[in-house]
Amino acid sequence: MQLYYSIFWCTALLGRVKGQSLTPSGTERVIPTLSPQVNALPSLTPTILDSSAPNSQHCPGYKASNLLENDYGFTADLMIAGDNCQAFGNDISHLTLEVSYQSKQRLNVRIYPTHIAPEQESWYILPSNIVDQPEWDGQTTASSSDLSLEWSNDPTFQFRIIRNNNKEELFSTYGHVIVYEDQFLELVTNMIDDYNVYGLAENIHDFWLSNNHTQTFYATDAGNTVDGNVYSAIPFYQETRYHNSTDTTSHGVYARNAHGQEWLLRENGITYRTLGGSFDLYFYSGQKDDGSSSALETIAQFHTQGIGLPAMHMYWTLGFHQARWGWENISVLQEVVDGYRNADVPLECLWNDLDIYDLYRDFTNNEATYPLPEFTRFIESLHANNQHYVPIVDSNIYVSNPDNESDTYGPFERGADLELFIRDPTTGGFYYGDNWPGFSVWGDFLLPATQQWWSKEIIDWHNGTPFDGIWIDLSEASSFCAGSCGYGRLTENPIHPPFLLPGDPLMFDYNYPEGFNVTNATEAASATAASASQSSAMSASPVLPSPTTTTRGRTEPTPGVRNLNFPPYVINNVQAGHALGKSAIAPNATHNNQYNTTEYDWHNLFGYQISNATYHALLELFPGRRPFTVGRSVFAGSGKTTGHWGGDNTSTWGSMFLSISQALTMMMSGIPMFGADTCGFARNTDFQLCSRWMELSAFFPFYRNHNVKATIGQEAYRWSSVAEASRRAMKVRYSLLTYMYTLFYYAHTEGATVMRALAWEFPNDVSLRKTYAQFMLGPSILVTPVLEPNVDTVRGVFPGVGEGERWYDWYSLEEVRAGPGENVTMEAPLEHINVHVRGGSVIALQQPRLTVEETKNTSYSLLVALDGDGKASGSLYLDDGVSLVQEATRLVTFSYADNCLAYSSEGSYHAAQPLDNVTITGLGAPRNNSTGRNGLYKGWSSAPKHVSMQYGKTNHSTDTLHMNYDVGIGVLRMSGVEQYTSDGAFEGDMKLCFEE
Ligand code: NOJ
Repeated sequence: MQLYYSIFWCTALLGRVKGQSLTPSGTERVIPTLSPQVNALPSLTPTILDSSAPNSQHCPGYKASNLLENDYGFTADLMIAGDNCQAFGNDISHLTLEVSYQSKQRLNVRIYPTHIAPEQESWYILPSNIVDQPEWDGQTTASSSDLSLEWSNDPTFQFRIIRNNNKEELFSTYGHVIVYEDQFLELVTNMIDDYNVYGLAENIHDFWLSNNHTQTFYATDAGNTVDGNVYSAIPFYQETRYHNSTDTTSHGVYARNAHGQEWLLRENGITYRTLGGSFDLYFYSGQKDDGSSSALETIAQFHTQGIGLPAMHMYWTLGFHQARWGWENISVLQEVVDGYRNADVPLECLWNDLDIYDLYRDFTNNEATYPLPEFTRFIESLHANNQHYVPIVDSNIYVSNPDNESDTYGPFERGADLELFIRDPTTGGFYYGDNWPGFSVWGDFLLPATQQWWSKEIIDWHNGTPFDGIWIDLSEASSFCAGSCGYGRLTENPIHPPFLLPGDPLMFDYNYPEGFNVTNATEAASATAASASQSSAMSASPVLPSPTTTTRGRTEPTPGVRNLNFPPYVINNVQAGHALGKSAIAPNATHNNQYNTTEYDWHNLFGYQISNATYHALLELFPGRRPFTVGRSVFAGSGKTTGHWGGDNTSTWGSMFLSISQALTMMMSGIPMFGADTCGFARNTDFQLCSRWMELSAFFPFYRNHNVKATIGQEAYRWSSVAEASRRAMKVRYSLLTYMYTLFYYAHTEGATVMRALAWEFPNDVSLRKTYAQFMLGPSILVTPVLEPNVDTVRGVFPGVGEGERWYDWYSLEEVRAGPGENVTMEAPLEHINVHVRGGSVIALQQPRLTVEETKNTSYSLLVALDGDGKASGSLYLDDGVSLVQEATRLVTFSYADNCLAYSSEGSYHAAQPLDNVTITGLGAPRNNSTGRNGLYKGWSSAPKHVSMQYGKTNHSTDTLHMNYDVGIGVLRMSGVEQYTSDGAFEGDMKLCFEE
């Protein structure tokens, strides 16, 4: 939401109207406004733009000595090789190097200060009980590893990582010094020409990161700033090298460090800089046993051998979610639920934003608009219809006004009694920042007792608000003022932030997406007129003083001291002024653990920790059930406990486009439950953008439409085109729910990705290295969305056709005609999204209904799409969809070859629904490559004469099976199977053979 802050601050709209708020009785009252001056921080020049900044590569570097070999690698001393250079901190003269061949695929390099005083532990060492720290597998040695490390002391310590089987240099600091200071670490790796690097999430950027990009990591509340730091930090990149058209290699690098940091991707190298911590680098070979490497394998290794595998979420969470900020009361919620049902558009889960709260305070109820028990009954009515409910919880906790006896606020008072909040080092008291409700504190999740307090608040709240999951907002952690601004001023609470909020008077948003005036000129004219009249009303209102900002240079390193709020190295934080304390809890705020860990060292982990704490709270509330949370700020490993949404995007075509690369990088980061605010959060959407976006997001794992307050409504039923687009796309999604769930199963067990870049699935096709306008859902579904206004066609490629790959239109099942690399123009009327099935796939489908539960109770069908050899395979994972630990599961494996479809399964989970029908496409001769994959498969020229079927132990007479063969498109549709599978589709093994 700080998007608003920046926009309005800069455009001087700020502060012209005193803040207003609703009292519990619903009447408006004027409340004191926090002065803009408390937001004033010096404006700094980011070091990467500061020509006067010292060149840290002039530092002396280190010399290695005392090398000691051990079972898994070696250790050595690194001594500074000259005078301290004090580039951006105090040099550490004596370091320890640890090189560990931790597993066949993973090599670890750690460099950390040899002497660390106990109170400095958190400056340098990221605890392994908080963030997973991979260790030696107990067997790998240098000689059995895929990788090796070479080093030299000439002129100073430098190292490189080599892939043993082809001698490729994957990473090399040769020619560069290592810099290690208390507030600045730097390492440079050489890169090959025109390198292909992906990841470094979270970023709003092209999927291919380019060799002219700086990725800053400092969790921030600034909307979806293109090319800047956003909400999260996952310091991992994957690199692909195209050697020739049949040989590609891939590897990955994970830098386990949570400090503010920057990755400077430049033409010949990548410079990695952090504001503290240690080098804890993991190199992944990306290799399989046969020695080949791939992006998918590299990513899987990062998940299985790095950050931990992502959670399996409850099955229903794959349904469609609708949120909005600004639903005024329960009747409006009911209208939304009815609106969806009446329009026949599935709605699985309703989300509430801050509207439910009394004066923005977590865990309260706005008695005027969301009164209990009526609200409880409303949520229960959702449950009765197999629908779900998820409310927002902000990360800050309102501080009650000490002078106002009636201003009691239990969550604060209970936490304060237990001393659980982050502290202000200058006063020793709590750190009082500012957020929606006014002066606020933040739970210190480094204290075990904070978990108990947080769990209790959540559990108690559930009594009146029986939610099914929690939406964790503002977990960067965001604060609207600089420093502990509430100190000595708590009696002013509830105070309004120093800028207008969406929904405040005169804050209606009249912006529309690009192309809007073309699509609806009348509406555009009326929006322009209303916008002009709002602007003139604004100019007539009283103006508050503007904030003062001063320009300040870099701080110089101070011997023996860390300058927390203004470290000497200024990262390119997107906040105005670039200071770390801008719109965040200040870096000098301290935790209550033994050594008072500071926010400086911990900032990027607040979101990670509050998500984990909420996960455990939900586990206590619903024992044995998979907790469902979606958090705004995540870190490496967050996927184990939470999903993530893309934050405050805008209703623009560009924002929609970039959500795809954001999603792909989240898949790389082990957070598959990801989705963007569909139709756009900030600004008004229009029917065209919203139709296209509802279609696109139907193929993202987390599918939620969400919208800011004071803009037009954007629920899918509001425009007939959006409703129709949503119905059609959701039919595809809901048919594929078991397929998506199976993809989650493989993500959860093997580190596979749910959404996939074309480059990952077709690793030898260099032309795909930058593509994200098309993507895949798992290995079998290709999605080609429309990403621009006012068109009714879309262009896309069909990878692999030159090598015999076959693709089928989802809707007609007809095989695509395309040449290698050809950009095929496809029809894409507004309500239609192009979806193609890859030859070689067997996919289990169900019949789409209005809820996930209803869909789950329909019978199954199988879609078999043949490859160039007339073969296909696939799998299906089944369980109860809810339990953390399953009593029974089932994994079904499908295959089709030599005119026979077969499946068998492992496990005992019973799916009661029968198998209804089987559809096979691709039975005709392959269209694009006349020889097929091996030239043998010629296809059928007429319908099969006979079908034999064995299910379980019985051979069935098959006269009753109905077959229809469309010779024109090579599609066989067979129905009537349910009479043989009435005890459940997958209870027995199946073999179904056709005779030509
Ligand atoms: C910021 C969140 O990103 C957004 O989704 C939410 O609507 C607002 N905060 C208000 O709670």
